[in-house]
Amino acid sequence: MILRTEGLSKTFEVGVRRRRVEAVSDLTLSVPEGEIFGFVGPNGAGKTTTIKMLMGLIFPTRGRAFLFDAPIPSAEAKARCGYLPEHPAFHEFLTGAEAMQLFATLAGVASADRRRRCDELLGLVGLADAAGRQVRKYSKGMQQRLGLAQALVADPAVVVLDEPMSGLDPNGRREVRDLILELRARGKTVFFSTHILPDVETLCDRVGIVIGGRLRDVGRLGELLSPRVQAVEVTAVAGAGGEAALAGGRVISRDGEQVTALFDGEEAAQEAVGALARGGGRLLSFTPHRETLEDFFLRRLKEQPAASGPGEAAPVSG
Ligand SMILES: Nc1ncnc2c1ncn2[C@@H]1O[C@H](COP(=O)(O)OP(=O)(O)OP(=O)(O)O)[C@@H](O)[C@H]1O
Ligand SMILES: [Mg+2]
Repeated sequence: MILRTEGLSKTFEVGVRRRRVEAVSDLTLSVPEGEIFGFVGPNGAGKTTTIKMLMGLIFPTRGRAFLFDAPIPSAEAKARCGYLPEHPAFHEFLTGAEAMQLFATLAGVASADRRRRCDELLGLVGLADAAGRQVRKYSKGMQQRLGLAQALVADPAVVVLDEPMSGLDPNGRREVRDLILELRARGKTVFFSTHILPDVETLCDRVGIVIGGRLRDVGRLGELLSPRVQAVEVTAVAGAGGEAALAGGRVISRDGEQVTALFDGEEAAQEAVGALARGGGRLLSFTPHRETLEDFFLRRLKEQPAASGPGEAAPVSG
């Protein structure tokens, strides 16, 4: 396993009364080499706290984490792991190219390779034209792109990205998706957090869903989502006789002669299609709805209403 946690937990003490907030509770998961793992959860679920523990930036209250089978923090983890923080920060007076040179130097990239490596990465994240501009003049999306380039500077075996799509426009999001797929194709392991569920659906080999600091589900999407058809959307040019055929469903939109109805199950929808044909209507589309990650996520959130925020531990006595 490239990355592994065992009962990882973090309790923060906040305020003068040292109220205890359990940000991450008993989190156990492992990510094998070459996998894209999506770490999904609502705001305040404990994603960033978990990632900071994985990066050795904060220490767990309980439990352990390993990168390359070595307990964190280790020299190997530092050298072979790239990290995009949630809010990447830069020396703003430097240009993008200078900032990258600095990161490359700090990451130990050989001086002969530095220039080429930085140019290549700036090109990869779409900042080649902005390389000579000061980072303080970068937009939020440009800073995010620079953060991504920085995470890749040492050609790491593992990349840990805390919300890599944050602040990016649709084009930027597509580029980052392609970049992550490209990293996997090169044999890298990618662990990223997000709440953009469609990105998870198109990218991840496995997903972990964290709610209230606890890992609720982990697995392949195909295993998590119900394969059952939940509803069928039927669109038809109903005509005079056809309208009655759709009566078994709930009409959700109407555009002139064109009617769209939602049926509870496949059978009811098939019956309607038969009746439609007999009544002289014309079928335009028949779309079965299966559970999406969003449906699943919202269902899990509803199932655990009390746990949708971080857990509150007992106050510290004394
Ligand atoms: N340094 C800290 N001190 C006190 N509480 C903290 C600290 N860092 C995080 N927390 C709390 O821990 C919980 C988890 O926060 P975390 O930042 O890990 O969530 P997240 O899943 O990354 O959320 P988001 O999607 O909004 O980024 C929150 O209740 C947060 O207030
Ligand atoms: Mg976060």
